[in-house]
Amino acid sequence: MPRRLINILIGTAIGLGLVGAFWYLAPGRDAGAPRTVAETTIKLGGPFELVRHDGVTVTEAAFRGKYMLIYFGFTYCPDVCPLELANMTRALEVLEAAGGDAEAVQPVFVSIDPERDTPEAMARYVSLFHPRMVGLTGSLEQVAAAARAYRVYYRKAVDEGGASEYLMDHSSIVFLMGPDGDYVTHFAPNTPADAMAEKLESVVG
Ligand code: NI
Repeated sequence: MPRRLINILIGTAIGLGLVGAFWYLAPGRDAGAPRTVAETTIKLGGPFELVRHDGVTVTEAAFRGKYMLIYFGFTYCPDVCPLELANMTRALEVLEAAGGDAEAVQPVFVSIDPERDTPEAMARYVSLFHPRMVGLTGSLEQVAAAARAYRVYYRKAVDEGGASEYLMDHSSIVFLMGPDGDYVTHFAPNTPADAMAEKLESVVG
C-alpha cells in the first residue's frame, strides 16, 4: 500500500476515534442533558415567565443583552445545588480576577421547588452565593414551562419524613445562554470552577 494512503487511513482512524471519544465523553451524554454531537444545533431555552427574588415577574427578555449562566435546582438541596452554585460563583470570580468581562455574565438560579422556594427564600439563598446572582421561582406552571424549555428534568422524591420534608430529583446542568437568548454551551455536573471560567473567557472575553 502506498505510504500516503496508509497515512490517510491512520489519520481517518484517529479522527473517528476522537469523534467517538467526544461522543461518549461529551457532557451531552449525561442524564437530562441534550443528546446531540453538534452543540450548535441544540434548540434549548426560550420564552419563560418567572418571579424574581424581589417579587417582580420577569420574562427571558429581562436577560437579553447579557450572557446568562443558568442553573435549575432548589434551596433545600443538601449538596448538589449549593456545590454547582458555588462553582458558578467561583468561575465568575476567577474570570473577573483574570481581567475577563464577568459583568457580561448574569448568574441565574431557577427553583424547581416553587412550593417551598418563595421569592423571599430565593432572595436569602442567592445572597449566599454571587452578589449579582438572580433567583427565579414562580407558580408550579411557570416553573414547569421554564424547565421544559431547558429540558430540565425534576420530580418530587417520595419521602416518609412528611409532606414538607422531601427532596427533589433533578438534572444538574449549568447552561450558558447568549445575549440573544440562544444556547451557547452547557457544563456537566461538577465542572470545576477553573474549567468553567476558562470556557467563559473563551466565549465572553
Ligand atoms: Ni440539587
